[in-house]
Amino acid sequence: MKPIAATAPGKLILFGEHAVVHGQPALAVPLTALTATVTAEATLLNSGLHILLPDSRHHHTLRVYPGNDTENALVYTAQLVLKTLGITTMPDLKLILHSTIPLAAGFGSGAAVSAALAQALSQALGHPLDYETLNELVYEVEKIHHGTPSGIDNTVIVYQKPVYFVRGKPLETFTIPRPFWLVVGNLGHATPTHITVGTVRELVEREPQRIQPIFGRIGEIANQARTLIETGQPDLLGPLMDENHALLRELTVSDDELDQFCAVARQAGATGAKLTGGGRGGNMIALVDEKTAPAVQEALKQAGAAKVFTTQVG
Ligand code: PMV
Repeated sequence: MKPIAATAPGKLILFGEHAVVHGQPALAVPLTALTATVTAEATLLNSGLHILLPDSRHHHTLRVYPGNDTENALVYTAQLVLKTLGITTMPDLKLILHSTIPLAAGFGSGAAVSAALAQALSQALGHPLDYETLNELVYEVEKIHHGTPSGIDNTVIVYQKPVYFVRGKPLETFTIPRPFWLVVGNLGHATPTHITVGTVRELVEREPQRIQPIFGRIGEIANQARTLIETGQPDLLGPLMDENHALLRELTVSDDELDQFCAVARQAGATGAKLTGGGRGGNMIALVDEKTAPAVQEALKQAGAAKVFTTQVG
């Protein structure tokens, strides 16, 4: 067998995080600057199925055995692939994982690693999973990290397309006729998504009259943003980003550092900025053009961002 490689990108949520958990639309795009790749190679007879993590500090090797190991997302992914394909004897394979997506940083590392692993394994077994099955499988694994995720991460990462996502609705992609540029600032620390999602849930249960309209407005913003993007006017997204950020702040998922980074980016020339993903740490994005990108990047670095990069969307 020739080695088989499968790759999955990271993701960025442009608009609608948190409100998407409560039924509102959200927009997300693949982040192709960051990727997870899994290569499947045949090994000696009866050696079984192993997952190798050569980039980890101790060069970890995980053995896959039959069952449901929900303690380990990678082993669980492989077990779900075997179960889905009805394979009961362990194949003699090694799956080698390399990823440039930082862990637990809000770039969809968990979903990307699962998607690449499931694709490489199913292809090596001669039964590549179709997108729909792969998406369901990665969602199952996502539940380990996130509790009750909306499904936006796995969907954008599996289909590798810009996604207009409404929970429980069929997949809808959108087009980006005019690409645009975002500076991404990573804070270097993050709050687990299930915690921020839980906080917002408590908030809406306590104060539905105040919080539901906030979700509603975030949903409208996502729709307006989609129209601007699809009609080739992405340069007008800035005010929508600012407003979405302010609403996320009302949902208590921003923090002083995210607010400050967004302000710094705007002062340096970005036309809008918002947190992206779960919030309370994690990442922010700022809308720039080729001229303003370097100054915004530099300003975020000066302000103390752990990692800053510019990415083209579309
Ligand atoms: O923390 P991230 O980047 O995986 O984003 C989570 C997005 C939320 O809307 C907050 C949760 C979800 O499941 O959609």
